[in-house]
Amino acid sequence: MFTGKVAVVTGGSRGIGLAIARTLLQRGARVAITATSEARLREAVEDLGKVTGSSNVLSVRADVRNYSEVEQALQAVAQKFGGIDILVNNAGVGVFRPVADLTIEEWRQMIDTNVSGVFYGCRAAVPHLKARGGGWIINVSSLSGTNPFPDGAAYCASKAAVNAFTEAFMQEVRHEGIRVAYVAPGSVRTDFSGRASSGSDEWKLAPEDVAQVVADLIAHPMRSLPSRVEIRPSRPPKKR
Ligand SMILES: NC(=O)c1ccc[n+]([C@@H]2O[C@H](COP(=O)([O-])OP(=O)(O)OC[C@H]3O[C@@H](n4cnc5c(N)ncnc54)[C@H](OP(=O)(O)O)[C@@H]3O)[C@@H](O)[C@H]2O)c1
Repeated sequence: MFTGKVAVVTGGSRGIGLAIARTLLQRGARVAITATSEARLREAVEDLGKVTGSSNVLSVRADVRNYSEVEQALQAVAQKFGGIDILVNNAGVGVFRPVADLTIEEWRQMIDTNVSGVFYGCRAAVPHLKARGGGWIINVSSLSGTNPFPDGAAYCASKAAVNAFTEAFMQEVRHEGIRVAYVAPGSVRTDFSGRASSGSDEWKLAPEDVAQVVADLIAHPMRSLPSRVEIRPSRPPKKR
């Protein structure tokens, strides 16, 4: 159980982030979620408040592309809950089209959110975790970081960057009790990249499957550090 622990989940207003927030609450943590849409944050907080009570949930509007917003969000969480033990850098976006058609703005949106956003979260969290004598940072990557595919160049590159960044960072801070890992899911049933999930998505992972991996990592014994987890649907459509 994570009783007494405080977690922050970026992009916690829907999809995988919301499932992670719910699972961490169910396991006893107090949880803060961030996102850019106030309206979705309000709905998510109402929903999460039903798990273990609204006093255990906080939402802060913060765009992960903006370092000062990230830093201020973590400060606000630490002030409200007394510190931070866990950060899940989950916020991410994907735009899928050929390189020749991808706009400069779309490229920047993916790199700024998926790569800079992860760096900003990690950088801003270190002093908070050190103040607690250690903690966990889990970055939500994707199998696309190691399995690139056409129309996904920028997205796949952003997740490959997350993987390398996370492994290097993990080695920098592990001696201070800060445990860093990334989770790389395959296809998950969410409305990611503006695509509404549908009945034909039944074969995909559920957001709760990824949430379980995140919670199990945090519960792992201190002597060992699982630093990279891939999770994929058991029975995707057959390609051959
Ligand atoms: N779905 C999949 O198949 C899949 C597979 C592998 C990995 N992933 C990764 O899993 C993570 C979550 O994906 P998902 O499927 O749950 O996506 P989602 O349903 O679209 O949710 C994304 C979350 O991130 C927030 N967000 C987006 N841009 C943000 C920003 N600039 N600052 C702060 N929050 C921001 C969104 O809220 P606002 O829009 O209000 O900001 C929302 O809460 C992403 O990193 C994604 O790359 C997804």
